[in-house]
Amino acid sequence: MSRLVYVLNGPNLNLLGKRQPAIYGYETLADVEADCRRAAGELKLEIEFHQSNAEHQIIDWIHEARERAGGIVINPAAFTHTSVAILDALNACEFPIIEVHISNVHRRESFRHHSYVSLVASGVIAGFGTQGYTLAIQRIARLIDEDQR
Ligand code: DQA
Repeated sequence: MSRLVYVLNGPNLNLLGKRQPAIYGYETLADVEADCRRAAGELKLEIEFHQSNAEHQIIDWIHEARERAGGIVINPAAFTHTSVAILDALNACEFPIIEVHISNVHRRESFRHHSYVSLVASGVIAGFGTQGYTLAIQRIARLIDEDQR
């Protein structure tokens, strides 16, 4: 299986570090990318790291990953709670998918308690701050090694 992992980030995560730091912390998305690259390097994974505010762009990256990658780590941000289209794109993938949320969505407003993406995710990490991304990379490496979904 491919050792390339797509790390995809949804809307407003470009503002990480500046946006609601009491909830999301002070680390920027560039810091998160560096953390992911470090974790991936240790596990002999390659990373494609992307962020978009546009649903169609995230779907296009999922389609690309479907052809090239061995797994996806995704923080769909607000699209988590709204996007059947992202769920459909992920359902077209045969490899492991890990869903990440920086905040503990279950301690927040009730509209954040439902996730379309969880219907296809092998696992969900929420409330671990930006550390959740490196934990997700470690988990996806294990799933790829074991050829599991
Ligand atoms: C988030 C949680 C979502 O509810 C929210 O819309 C986000 C970020 C998180 O990482 O905690 O934008 O996915």
